[in-house]
Amino acid sequence: SSTLASAAIVEHTFHVKNLTIGRLCRQQTITAVNGSLPGPTIRVHEGDTLIVHVFNKSPYNLTIHWHGIFQLLSAWADGPSMITQCPITPGNSYTYKFRIVNQEGTLWWHAHFSMLRATVHGALIIRPRSGHKYPFPKPDKEVPIILGEWWNADIIDVANQAQATGGGPNTSDAYTINGRPGDLYPCSQNQTYTLEVEKGKTYLLRIINAALNNQLFFKIANHNFTVVAVDACYTEPYVTDVVVIAPGQTTDVLLKADQPVGSYYMAARAYASAPQIPFDNTTTRGIVVYDGATTANPLMPVLPAFNDNPTAHRFYSNLTGLKDGPQWVPVPLQVDEPMFVTVGLGLDRCPANATCQGLNGQRNSASMNNHSFQAPTSLSLLQAFFFNVGGIFTPDFPDNPPLIFDFTNTALSNDSSLLFAPKRTSVKTLKFNSTVEMILQNTALVVLENHPMHVHGFDFHVLAQGFGNFDAARDRQKFNLVNPQRRNTIAVPVGGWAVIRFRANNPGVWFMHCHLDVHLPWGLATAFVVENGPTPSTRLPPPPADLPQC
Ligand code: C2O
Repeated sequence: SSTLASAAIVEHTFHVKNLTIGRLCRQQTITAVNGSLPGPTIRVHEGDTLIVHVFNKSPYNLTIHWHGIFQLLSAWADGPSMITQCPITPGNSYTYKFRIVNQEGTLWWHAHFSMLRATVHGALIIRPRSGHKYPFPKPDKEVPIILGEWWNADIIDVANQAQATGGGPNTSDAYTINGRPGDLYPCSQNQTYTLEVEKGKTYLLRIINAALNNQLFFKIANHNFTVVAVDACYTEPYVTDVVVIAPGQTTDVLLKADQPVGSYYMAARAYASAPQIPFDNTTTRGIVVYDGATTANPLMPVLPAFNDNPTAHRFYSNLTGLKDGPQWVPVPLQVDEPMFVTVGLGLDRCPANATCQGLNGQRNSASMNNHSFQAPTSLSLLQAFFFNVGGIFTPDFPDNPPLIFDFTNTALSNDSSLLFAPKRTSVKTLKFNSTVEMILQNTALVVLENHPMHVHGFDFHVLAQGFGNFDAARDRQKFNLVNPQRRNTIAVPVGGWAVIRFRANNPGVWFMHCHLDVHLPWGLATAFVVENGPTPSTRLPPPPADLPQC
C-alpha cells in the first residue's frame, strides 16, 4: 500500500559519551548523546528509512531502543539489551537501520541498558509523508516537551546500589522539562524552560514522558489542551485541562494561545499510585510567555494530588482512537491467543546472613503471571530464536496454573507460593499473524500500583480498563471494538485491569515490560517470539554484520 516515491533516507550519528553539566547547584558527569540533554531530536516522514550510527564512547554497556517503532522485518534494530541484541560495549559501535511505515506522530528513542535512559533519550518525530496531512488543523508551530527525571548521582551507581541492597533505587532529585528542572529547584532559576507564544496561534506540543519511575500530571495555567494523538496513534480530539502520562507514553496536544497576553507556568509532578513506596514529590515547571508580556508573576496551575487515581483514570479511559483516520487499524474481532496475565510486585527471599532493603526485609521482585522474568546472559533471545539455539528461553508463558483469587486483597501477601515467583526466561511463542488478547490484571501481593505496560514492535488496541477484579461476564460488555485508543504503553489501573489486543504480524522477539524502570530488573516482563510467515517478505532477514556479540 505504500509508495516509495517520497521516501528519504535520514542518517544520524550518535556519539555517546561523558558530559559534565551543572544542575541543582553542582556539576554532575552524565552519559549523553552528542553532548546534549535531552539528546538530538530525530525528524522523519512516514515511509523514510532511518540510519543511526551509534558510537559507544561511554564507560558503560549500551543499547538504543526506538520506542514504539514497529521495526517491520528489522527486529535486529529494536535494541533492548539481551532481548534483540547483546550490548554495545565501551569503544564499540552498532548501526541501527530501519524503515518507518504505517505510523505517524511522536515517539522517542532511549538507552535500553540498566537505568541509562535517564540521560540517554530524545524525541523521534514522524510526520505524514509528502501529500498527506494531519487529521487536525495544521498547527502554527510544533514543540517537543520531554519530561525527565534527574539524579544528583551517577545513574549506574544508583541502579547498582538498588541491585545490591534489593531495595528500590534512591528517588530522583528533580523532574525536568526539556532537560531543565525549573525555578522551584535550588540554583535553577536560569534553567527554566520557556515557550514563547503569540496570541491566537496554535501549538502542537509533543509531550514525552522520559522519566524513569514516575507517571506525571502536566498542566498549563488557564489553558486547555486538545489531545490529538497518543503513542503515535491519532485520537478523537479530547479536550482536557490536565494530561496524565506514564513513562514510555507520548501525548500530542494542541495548545491554543487564547488567554490574555501574559505569562503562565507549565508544571509537572508525580502521579504516584502506591504511596507506600517512596517517590519524588517535587514539581518541575517552565513558563509560557505571550509575545508582548514579561515573565513577571506567571500564573501557576493547580496540579492534582499525587494519589488522584480518579483524575488519572478519567483521562486514560476517555481517550478513543480516530476511527478511519490516517494509519487507523480496525480491532481484530477474532482472538487466536487469549491470555489472562497478572502484573504486580513480589519478593525474593533475602539470603541468610544478608540484610536486604526491599519490602518486608526481603529483596524486591515482580512478575507477570507468577513468572519473574530473567534476561539471558550469553545470547540475546532474538539470536537464540533466529539461530535456533536451545536452552536460552522456555516457551511456557503464561501457562502456569492460572492465578484465581481476589487480586485486590492485600491479605494474600501471606501466600508465599504467589509472593515468591520463580526467576525464569519464559516467553510466549506466536504464529505469524495470530491475534492476541491480553487481560492484564493488577495484583496486591505486596502493594497495589499502576503499572505502565509496554509492548515492543506492536501497537495494541485498549478495549477497556477498570478497577477491581476483571469479571468476564460484566466487563466484556464494556469492550470498545469500534474506536478504541491504540497505543504501545498502557497504564494498568492501580488495583484494576486493562484489556489489549494486537495482531502479531512481525516476526522477531518483542519485549513486553513495565516501563517503570525499576520494575524491569525485578522481572515485570516477558517476551513474544513471533514466528516467520509463509512468504519471503514475511521472514526476518539475518542480522547485520556489526550486530554486537556477547
Ligand atoms: Cu521504552 Cu523496552 O522500552
